[in-house]
Amino acid sequence: RKKVILDVDTGVDDALAIMLAVTSGQLDILGITTVSGNVSLDQATLNTCKILQLLGVSGQIPVYRGADKPLAREAIFEHRVHGADGIGGALGDMPVTKQAETEPAEDFIIRQVLAQPGEITLIMTAPLTNLARALQKCPELTQHAAEVIVMGGVVQGFGNITPTAEYNMYVDPEAAKQVLAAGFPRLTLVGLDVTRRALLSAEDIAKLRIPAIRDYVEQSTSGYRERYYERNGVQACALHDPLAVGVALNRGFVTVHDYYVDVETRSELCDGQTVCDFQNRLGKPVNAAVCLEVDAAAFLECFIDSLNQEPKK
Ligand code: BDR
Ligand code: CA
Repeated sequence: RKKVILDVDTGVDDALAIMLAVTSGQLDILGITTVSGNVSLDQATLNTCKILQLLGVSGQIPVYRGADKPLAREAIFEHRVHGADGIGGALGDMPVTKQAETEPAEDFIIRQVLAQPGEITLIMTAPLTNLARALQKCPELTQHAAEVIVMGGVVQGFGNITPTAEYNMYVDPEAAKQVLAAGFPRLTLVGLDVTRRALLSAEDIAKLRIPAIRDYVEQSTSGYRERYYERNGVQACALHDPLAVGVALNRGFVTVHDYYVDVETRSELCDGQTVCDFQNRLGKPVNAAVCLEVDAAAFLECFIDSLNQEPKK
């Protein structure tokens, strides 16, 4: 099984990404690190613990708290999209027994990656603050991580928080810039170009067979789907973060192209924009495999099939 660490700001779609990662049975999840993003660090951590409890794996997957704000900016929460609690009010009355570990997220990432060189895939579905902080402490991480898969950015389309920027990149563009410039030999960008095509509809949710899982997905995505409809006119919601896990499970879901990508950090209008050098005009070496196409049907089938599995104990 592929060894992974998930880095999340649990949010509606982060929760679905965790669910896919766990229920797929194909990933060895060494731990989940949390960060300020869609919601506060505390809320993201709480939500992560709740999802692991819902899946019955809270004893097996440790959770580590990371940064409580971006490197150099104030937090920008997304309560309008993800709800007051970040998971659309679902699991509101769940008693939470699981606690996060005391080791900070960045130290956990460094410790694991150095102990198992070439083996660990980092799946990042949040602002990149934790990984940037880990790199500041330990630049040689780049040589030891097997792969970094980042849900973030958009290279051909438009943004989802500003006209040009995707949310994770916009919230901590300094961190994103550092991660892209760090020199990871294998960094895959799963941006809105593909995640907007990985849509979950009410009909798809009806295919979920485990009642507790179906009810949770129904409830947690209800407001999220409404917001998506208001913006995009589609009766569904985008599985942004789950697709990053999907790419870890089966790279065949996407088509990637190698490019040099950078992030704007000093523009009033375009901060957080991922600039992809399609024609290598800057003459810089490739630093990212950018997803440009997705087999959304195949990915969605994997998503539904996985959530229909009882979690592997
Ligand atoms: C990303 O932003 C967040 O709101 C989602 O959880 C996802 O990680 C999509 O742009
Ligand atoms: Ca997220």
